[in-house]
Order: sequence, then C-alpha cells, then structure tokens
Amino acid sequence: MNTLLSTLSAELESMSSAGTLKRELPLKSAQGPLVEIEGLGEVIMLTSNNYLGLADHPAIVEAAEKAERDFGYGLASVRFICGTQTIHRQLEERIAEFFGTEDTILYGSCWNANEGLFQTVALEQDAIVSDELNHASIIDGIRLSKARKERFKNRDMGDLRRALEATKDTRNKVVMTDGVFSMEGSLAPLPEMIELTREYGAFLVVDESHGTGVLGATGRGTPEELGVFGKIDAYTSTLGKALGGSHGGFTTGPNVLVEYLRQKSRPYLFSNTLPPAVVLGSLAAIDLVDKDPSFVGRLRENTAYFRAQLTAKGVRVREGIHPIVPILIGDTAKAIAMSKELLTRGVYVSGFGFPVVPQGAARLRCQISAAHTREHLDRAIAAIVEVAAQFGVLESAA
Ligand SMILES: Cc1ncc(COP(=O)(O)O)c(C=O)c1O
Repeated sequence: MNTLLSTLSAELESMSSAGTLKRELPLKSAQGPLVEIEGLGEVIMLTSNNYLGLADHPAIVEAAEKAERDFGYGLASVRFICGTQTIHRQLEERIAEFFGTEDTILYGSCWNANEGLFQTVALEQDAIVSDELNHASIIDGIRLSKARKERFKNRDMGDLRRALEATKDTRNKVVMTDGVFSMEGSLAPLPEMIELTREYGAFLVVDESHGTGVLGATGRGTPEELGVFGKIDAYTSTLGKALGGSHGGFTTGPNVLVEYLRQKSRPYLFSNTLPPAVVLGSLAAIDLVDKDPSFVGRLRENTAYFRAQLTAKGVRVREGIHPIVPILIGDTAKAIAMSKELLTRGVYVSGFGFPVVPQGAARLRCQISAAHTREHLDRAIAAIVEVAAQFGVLESAA
C-alpha cells in the first residue's frame, strides 16, 4: 500500500477502536418528521434542520419540477461567464426583501458564502473579530484571510470589547457571529453587539443559518426575535435548512459589499451556481413562510411543548427558545450509546461529543420541526425519558 494510504488507514483504524467513526444511516424516504431507514423501518426524525417541514412540501417540489421543465437541469458554468438566469436575480432580490437589505449574492452553500467573504473583504491591514463558537465554515473562511484575527469568548460582550480594543489600530474591522449557535441553540446578544460594533466603527456580520425561517414572528431570524431587525450590517445564511432544506447559501447586505463580492469572491467566481430547481424551490419556500405564518407559529409551539415536557420529566436540557434542544449528558460514550438506544426505540437523535463540543459536555442534540405532530413529540419524549432513566441521567422531576 502507498505510504499515504497506510497513514490514512491507520488513522481510520484508531478512530474505529475509539468509537468515533461516523456512520451514515441510509434513508429510503424523503426528509420529514418520520423517515424510513434501510433495515430499521420508520423512525421519528428528531435531528434534522428541516425546521419548517418544507423539505417534502408539495408546493416546493412542484416549483422545482417546473423549474427543470422551463430552465433545464443546470447551467454548466459560473455566473459571470454564462451561468446567470433571470430566476437567479429574482431569488437574490427576494432574499434581500426578506432580510430588509439592499442586495444578495448567491453561493453554492453557506459554507461557500463564509469561505468567500473574509479573504475578499479583509486584508492585511484589517481585523476580523470572531466568536469562539462560530461555525466551522466561519473558522475556515477566516483562516483564508490575511487580516489580523481575534477571537472572543462565546457571547461575552466584555471580551468582545477587549478584542475590539486590541484591534483598534487596524484599518477596517469585521465582527462575525452566528445568530444561533448550532450546538447550543443559544442566541448571539445582537443588541449589545450592534452597540459595541458601532462604538468601534466595526462592520457586523451575522450567520443566520439556524435563524432564517425559524426565529422572529415572521421567520426573519435572530434580529427579528431580538427586536433589531434592519440594524445588522450584513448576513450570511443557507437555503439548506428551514427554507426547503436543499442546498445553497448567500450573503446579503449593502449594494457595495454584494457588488464587490460578485467581482472578487473566489467561490462565486470559480464554482457553478445553483441549479434552477433549487432557485425556484427556494423562492417557493420563502413565499410559503411569508404567506403562511402558521409554519413559524407551529414550530414555536412544538418547541415550547417539547422543552417544557422534557424539563418537567427531569431531563436536563439547555435552556432557551430555539428548536435546537441539547440534552446535556457529559460523557461522550454515554451520549453516543443513548443515541443508539433511542434509535432502537424509533427515535433518531444524534449524539455529539469531543471534539465537536468541549470535553465533558457531550450531548444529544434534538431538533424540532413544525411538521412534528403532538403524537410524534409525545412518543419521542417518552422514549427520551426512558433512555435517560436507563442511563442514570434523569434528574428528579421538576
Ligand atoms: C451556522 C452555520 N453556518 C453555515 C453552515 C453551512 O451551511 P451549508 O450547508 O449551506 O453549507 C451551517 C450548516 O451546518 C451552519 O450551521
């Protein structure tokens, strides 16, 4: 075997003996509140980002089918050569309207949006100030920039001030945060961040991947939830979670930022754009969210019910309002064993341990959908309580 392959093989074997190899379960059905797993049968899906239950919505599937008939399967090019269709501009304008921004640039994913942002707009003489728990795509995106880098402690405004003070002598400062932290379900303190960034003349960008379509009375995200809609400088977000769950991402903000990215952002310039089915499917998803507030309303009700029931029954969840509901376990092996046990009881929840979360902070991450019925939630809650008791992590009921 080539030495490269034997190195990789040894590493895979050590992951296998440590029990940290990731195994993918093949679904035989569409994503939904119930899914069929090959060899296992039907289970309750409690671990997807299908927050509004739109992943198999007939209006979106129909829009996607129509898009393929009218606009074909793909563009076979990047945007600036011959890959822009009228519907790409339509989606960009619709997203800007939804976010209350001036313009939008689409990317193949939010990963690409984050990857293409910092290296393009922040140079040697600039600084990027980033929350320590920001998503991997932000961390990697920042690595590609030559700017000075400062991290601040998660949601700690005293430490953000310190970081801004430490970078005072730089030309431009970009402050970057997740709107919702994906392992915690916690929200960034945006009102305070707006004040601080204004005080230091910094530019505030929020990754709204878990906020878009989820938070706020009309699904406009974390800023709407926290009463600061329209006050954030720019956003990145995804089309791959609440808004249909397919693929695609974007940066939305001031015209000058979007135009600059269109000219210079490498994942935009050198990678194919979104296929027509995803573009019209995403437009249909935004229309559904706007026309029918019951999607966001049901998600909120389901989340409140699930959180309250688990807490009342003695299951320790991280407090909050977001449909990401982490159940705190501590030990990684235990969290993974509990996840396996839940699957045998027909409930699909992922367990996360070190290094995804800090040592000793392993958890089961439940994610609620508007498409869950009360019966799905009750069955899932009963299974979680039983498994928590079996593994000795049930507290005395509240
Ligand atoms: C906060 C955050 N940003 C970015 C991404 C990447 O999104 P996409 O799947 O569109 O690349 C994710 C997805 O997990 C995320 O949670």
